[in-house]
Amino acid sequence: MGTALISGSLKVMHAFDFKKGKLHAEEVAVDRLASEFGTPLYVYSEATLLGHYRGLTGALAEVDATVAYAVKANSNLAVLGTLARAGSAFDIVSGGELFRVVQAGGEAARCTFAGVGKTEEEIGFALDQGIYAFVAESEAELRFIDQVAARRKVRAPVAVRVNPDVDAGTHHKITTGTYENKFGIAFEEIEELYGRAAKLKHLRLRGVHMHIGSQITAVGPFRAALKKMVPLVSRLRDRFGLEFFDIGGGLGIVYDPALASGKESWWEGRSRRPLTPEDYAKAVVPLVRPLGMKILIEPGRFIAGNAGILVARVLYVKKTARKNFVIVDAAMNDLIRPAFYEAYHEIVPVGRAGPRRTVKTDVVGPVCESGDVFCKDRLLPELRTGDLIAFLSAGAYGFTMASNYNTRPRPAEVLVSGKKVLLARRRESLQDLVRGEATA
Ligand code: LLP
Repeated sequence: MGTALISGSLKVMHAFDFKKGKLHAEEVAVDRLASEFGTPLYVYSEATLLGHYRGLTGALAEVDATVAYAVKANSNLAVLGTLARAGSAFDIVSGGELFRVVQAGGEAARCTFAGVGKTEEEIGFALDQGIYAFVAESEAELRFIDQVAARRKVRAPVAVRVNPDVDAGTHHKITTGTYENKFGIAFEEIEELYGRAAKLKHLRLRGVHMHIGSQITAVGPFRAALKKMVPLVSRLRDRFGLEFFDIGGGLGIVYDPALASGKESWWEGRSRRPLTPEDYAKAVVPLVRPLGMKILIEPGRFIAGNAGILVARVLYVKKTARKNFVIVDAAMNDLIRPAFYEAYHEIVPVGRAGPRRTVKTDVVGPVCESGDVFCKDRLLPELRTGDLIAFLSAGAYGFTMASNYNTRPRPAEVLVSGKKVLLARRRESLQDLVRGEATA
């Protein structure tokens, strides 16, 4: 099972592994966490977070690289604090994410702020906090940032997000770098736009940005985008004195261990083995090093994805003529990726209570939607009421995409470090769910 949880050649410790027949998070038995904190429960491994962060910074050591963790992947304060202490910068997409970074002890001066729809309040807040750079996604936004900065009598550091029109070959809902997508500004329009932006007195042109998509498991799309971008970036650097080139995030992880054994599986079908920091560095470093600029990368999933699991308990088993439904206490509101992207998450029983036959199983949640399904007809050990299961690789875009649909409290989150357990977020209470509402 280790291969599913370790990013390629990265020798991070087996953060989630079986010891004496029981799934452990680092040194702590997951069934113990479930009895102490209840289910559904997100469990994160600090060693895995740090292992991935350090693996990337190490692989990119030949350039002046900064890893700016994409907060949207997992924004729990304990996760952000852990990464901030390790030296991470942050990629944020809202005032709320900036607030979280600052609350967690991170520095605003090491944040880049992307996103197509920043509001006046968010821009003002980011200026007051002194962020490293805004990543503007339209000319209208550049002009608006200039106005907000003028009112404060400051200059706003900015970069422009270039859409290089390169297909990342990933799921259509997470492709961002083609002209079909709302992100960035077309490659052909960039130089003239920088020319106009340079005349805006309250902007300081500090860098240039791209991000082509997410869960990219081969280096080809990164290479293609960089080959196209580097000559442009070099001209912009000379004309406008830019200091940094942010090459985005998007590094994919392994969700399905069968992949490594050769099975093609939907959007990961292109890669038969995980992308490693070394593969990534080998592809990008030779292309960006000649620029002599500060290089930023913004990985989210690569750092947090395999560092978390979602633990759930089996409520009922319902066998029909056609199906074997296992109904668990986690649902699409807790982990939406299978319902939203048909994403694959490996499912393992938390305890290996003796040999059990494997049966084709649909694991489903209690939410009143046909789409509330975690897997269909998957061969799993026969599950019974009361069993605990874990959805693996749920550390990125798990809790951050959770909702209160069906008025379900969001799960608790714990961060494990060796033998230590931190309740990183308590389970929501029913009172939490109605806070701020009025009765009519
Ligand atoms: N930078 C920018 C500007 C982004 O839009 C994103 C992700 C990232 C960095 C980080 O991408 P990563 O390294 O995590 O691939 N909810 C989807 C993924 C959406 C990604 C959105 N943008 C999922 O669960 O697969």
